[in-house]
Amino acid sequence: MLFFSKRCNIGLLLRGSYATIAHVIKAMSNTLQLGLVGLGTVGAGVYETLCRNHSLLEARAQISFAVKRVAVRNLSRPRDVEIDASMLTDDWRELVNDPTIDIIIELIGGVTEAYDLVLAALRAGKPVVTGNKALLAERGSELFKLSAEKGVPLYFEASCGGGIPIIQSLQNSLICNHVLSIAGIINGTSNYILSSMQDSATSFLDALLKAQELGFAEADPSFDVNGWDAAHKALILAMLAYGTPLDPSKIAVSGIERVEAVDFQFAKKLGYAIKLLVVIKRHEEIDALELRVQPSFVPLDHVLANVNGVFNAIAVNGDIVGETIFYGRGAGKNPTASAVIADVVMAMRECLQPGYHTGFNPYSKNMTVIDQADTVTPYYVRFRVKDCPGVIARLATILARHEIGISATSSLSNTVKSADGTTRNELVFQIHACKWGLLQASIDDASKEDCIDANPVVFRIEQFND
Ligand code: HSE
Repeated sequence: MLFFSKRCNIGLLLRGSYATIAHVIKAMSNTLQLGLVGLGTVGAGVYETLCRNHSLLEARAQISFAVKRVAVRNLSRPRDVEIDASMLTDDWRELVNDPTIDIIIELIGGVTEAYDLVLAALRAGKPVVTGNKALLAERGSELFKLSAEKGVPLYFEASCGGGIPIIQSLQNSLICNHVLSIAGIINGTSNYILSSMQDSATSFLDALLKAQELGFAEADPSFDVNGWDAAHKALILAMLAYGTPLDPSKIAVSGIERVEAVDFQFAKKLGYAIKLLVVIKRHEEIDALELRVQPSFVPLDHVLANVNGVFNAIAVNGDIVGETIFYGRGAGKNPTASAVIADVVMAMRECLQPGYHTGFNPYSKNMTVIDQADTVTPYYVRFRVKDCPGVIARLATILARHEIGISATSSLSNTVKSADGTTRNELVFQIHACKWGLLQASIDDASKEDCIDANPVVFRIEQFND
């Protein structure tokens, strides 16, 4: 039935929603054309899967599609993926400016060029699928604003949790819930490294090299180990869960670089695993968010302690649904391709039958993020000390001056003799829940003592019962 709608000049009623004539013509006569930008690990996985499972996808989605062109950085680079050279270009603008290309898949990573690309594609009216968490965490608010203004959707399932369908779950399946908290392991590389260090005493570097070989790590793996990859993902989850734009500088981030083999010895002895944990928690009483990514001690009987290797897990606690856990491969070519292609199908459906889709809906006022110094947990503090009489008492006295309470102490039976004849030991204090800022001040004081041999190592001990 032809009629005039508010949304478009001339529209058709198609299965209950409004579509332009162009959409209907497309649906009747055309194969949707995809433009893929980036043919690295994930791009290759997407291309291969679109080829391999093409008929399954067409049958399930009831849509005919083809990859029309692929933009790459370097045309002469040898590739593992079989692709007709005539499909390649080294200029993504050709894809954005091609009127026959309906959807752009952005898989180049980085922020600056990816921003220009997504901006140009949205302006050209082409739905965009991206897995670029850094882009969304840093510039998502601007892009989502443009996407809403233009009515052109931006999809980002692959930006968090690899193959785990967490984005669509937060957007749709959990829509009736106030999210009370999210706790998760959302960097596959660091989880792989920590698991290897825990299970087989592999060195940090060997485990990182292996993760890179397996294609989990970012091009610049410092983002994986310094916590920022997880932080970008945490910002996306928090923005979606609470409908609030968030300033990336507000998140407290530390990486796994300071975790040592000896920490795993203590963790095991005390009943914990060590995980790079993301914590997003709403404090209703002060209407503020706790937002942090840090290596943390997780009780061995908690499900997150048993998430190993490249696997990710995200525990979402909603006021209606209660606890949910999303688990799966959080990195790698195929799991990430699976998430990208889920979005490609959503984008294709949207091309044929425009409905309601918003990538991120900023329905809340800007929420305050609690200063890291004011966040409260118990802690594990490891001092490397000169093993002499009274050292525990000296350190405990300093902590007590700052009103820091010690719940237990622990040390290793094997002390180490240094060249100067002194004996070194690792001394661990478990600290009662207190503000991070208070603990830091006490540790700074304690570090001035001549019995301390190296910078103390501090990890949070995570509690999951509130
Ligand atoms: N490098 C990321 C990780 C994968 O290790 O989780 C993509 O997000």
